[in-house]
Amino acid sequence: MTLDFTGRVAIVTGAGNGLGRSYALELASRGAKVLVNDLGGDIFGSGDDAAAAQIVVDEIKSAGGEAIANLGSVSDYENGLEMVRQCMEAWGRVDIVITNAGILRDKAMHNITEQDWDIIMDVHMKGTYAVLHHVWPVFRQQGYGRVVLTSSSSGIWGNFGQANYGAAKSANLGLMNVLKQEGLKYNVTVNSLMPGAGTRLTATVMDEERLEQMKPEFVTPAVVYMCSEENKDSGMMIEAGAGNFNRAVMVKAPGIQHGTDSLPSAEWVEENWGQIISLEGATPMWNGRQTVDEFNASDASLNG
Ligand SMILES: NC(=O)c1ccc[n+]([C@@H]2O[C@H](COP(=O)([O-])OP(=O)(O)OC[C@H]3O[C@@H](n4cnc5c(N)ncnc54)[C@H](O)[C@@H]3O)[C@@H](O)[C@H]2O)c1
Repeated sequence: MTLDFTGRVAIVTGAGNGLGRSYALELASRGAKVLVNDLGGDIFGSGDDAAAAQIVVDEIKSAGGEAIANLGSVSDYENGLEMVRQCMEAWGRVDIVITNAGILRDKAMHNITEQDWDIIMDVHMKGTYAVLHHVWPVFRQQGYGRVVLTSSSSGIWGNFGQANYGAAKSANLGLMNVLKQEGLKYNVTVNSLMPGAGTRLTATVMDEERLEQMKPEFVTPAVVYMCSEENKDSGMMIEAGAGNFNRAVMVKAPGIQHGTDSLPSAEWVEENWGQIISLEGATPMWNGRQTVDEFNASDASLNG
């Protein structure tokens, strides 16, 4: 079935280049009205060039679609409100938010300056909060919302030299795990993407052929589906790139239960380490409460 976005309104942050641009164009081609946010900085977060967002807005309009630009920074709290206000004024609703804006300050841990740390947290973490915080009341009132957060292989598995970036991208997964619960009764789904694409962010590490095989258009279909009304799943971590689509998942393994009748020693942990770290029988959890309930259920002394 064709995924149709007629009447839907989407905010795509960092949509002046790379992946965000591709999401914005594809959503608009399927009928969505799109707010194209982009500060227009370089990949390290310096500078601002209004042209980045405006070019994408013009592309959408010349193809017959509807779009407006927002040239502010995602990490500016007031600009988060402004993006929502612009959509409400122009189109009266917001259905979709894709938090995609991103930069890099790759360095080994001992070389990361305080500024390198802060700017990565500002763009990837505060930048995600600033827009979602302001759109959340609209979602609750509408009883509808679709969110795709942008994580990274660095956030879920870790990449050498990306301590700041990996930490910020992991924070997005923590945010998803909470918001998937808070959004549930309002028909708001919150999913995460770990993309792999040839963009200016990755240009230095890819040759021409690889860039073609990894163009953003190989990632975009996963994002478009997760933004659609047809997708009811929430809390998914999806890796997409170069023709690959898969789910990644955090799991809890059954481990071993010592019980609470006596205190376990470090030697007891040493003896049982193999079973503690075994993944046999591991399953995903929906929330933190579930894991605490399982602790209690396994403790005979708490269950009579
Ligand atoms: N390309 C990949 O393989 C890859 C892998 C993992 C994660 N990601 C993530 O995907 C997202 C998109 O990356 P991309 O590869 O398309 O990079 P890109 O540099 O092509 O696009 C990112 C855009 O974000 C904008 N931006 C940066 N800081 C901003 C801010 N403060 N406010 C508003 N806009 C801002 C930039 O101007 C740029 O247009 C990023 O979050 C990135 O971390 C990309």
